[in-house]
Amino acid sequence: MNETRGYRRTPVYSTSAAIYDRMVGHYAFEHWRDNFERLERRYDLDISRVADAACGTGLASAYLVERGAEVYASDLSLPMLAEAARLHGRPGVCLQRQDMRYLYPPSRVTLVNCATDAMNHLLYKADLRRALSSFRAALEPGGHAIFDLNTAWQLREGSDTVPWEFEVDGRRMRWSSAWEEVSSICTLNMVFIDVDLDGSDIVEVHRERAYETAWVMEELARAGFDSAEVMDATGLGKAGEQTRRLQFVAGV
Ligand SMILES: C[S@@+](CC[C@H](N)C(=O)[O-])C[C@H]1O[C@@H](n2cnc3c(N)ncnc32)[C@H](O)[C@@H]1O
Repeated sequence: MNETRGYRRTPVYSTSAAIYDRMVGHYAFEHWRDNFERLERRYDLDISRVADAACGTGLASAYLVERGAEVYASDLSLPMLAEAARLHGRPGVCLQRQDMRYLYPPSRVTLVNCATDAMNHLLYKADLRRALSSFRAALEPGGHAIFDLNTAWQLREGSDTVPWEFEVDGRRMRWSSAWEEVSSICTLNMVFIDVDLDGSDIVEVHRERAYETAWVMEELARAGFDSAEVMDATGLGKAGEQTRRLQFVAGV
């Protein structure tokens, strides 16, 4: 994992923001939408006012606005928010720079959505705990929080220390990743080849932590949610040992 040595390091979701949708976003959105529509029916979700926390490029926000929701979309990354504004900025979406640990929409919402492993980016238990409390505080009675988390199985199995080179929109990239069992953290080095002013590479270092399901469920109760369910994000059935991503639905 010496991929980062000697390269200029840029913040996560800075260089990658412009190609996020082609790389991950569109595919992730299709998957999210299928699940969302099933969860909406299953849990009778109210989408009148939605906080889309860690909204990224805003694909889910744009969809929810189309569906008639008032949406407060927020993210920590300014380049991702700039993409969201450029691609999907429209009346009805309020874009804000906000840390999901301190989510604070302009008014209480009926639904908090936090999708596509955004919460795995919180590397400390205290951070995840704080995020769940802020989701709870943002909800009005009867509201729900829906979010997903990559499992340790996914992060471990998906890691590959052998560098993988590919191209997106004419940008050459080299990815390598490593899983650390002790910390339950996967580190992904995203190298952008020959893009710096002097023609050298630059790198974004993305880190995701896996959390124990039982611990997350305990924290949801501790945060004040009255109900919480977890399922396999693929198929929305019972989660098992080889589940790659978990879908949580918590209500107040
Ligand atoms: C994999 S992207 C998912 C984006 C979007 N939710 C989607 O479904 O495509 C993860 C996002 O989480 C954001 N993020 C990471 N940590 C954050 C934090 N503490 N608060 C808010 N956003 C955060 C990143 O900036 C990035 O846009």
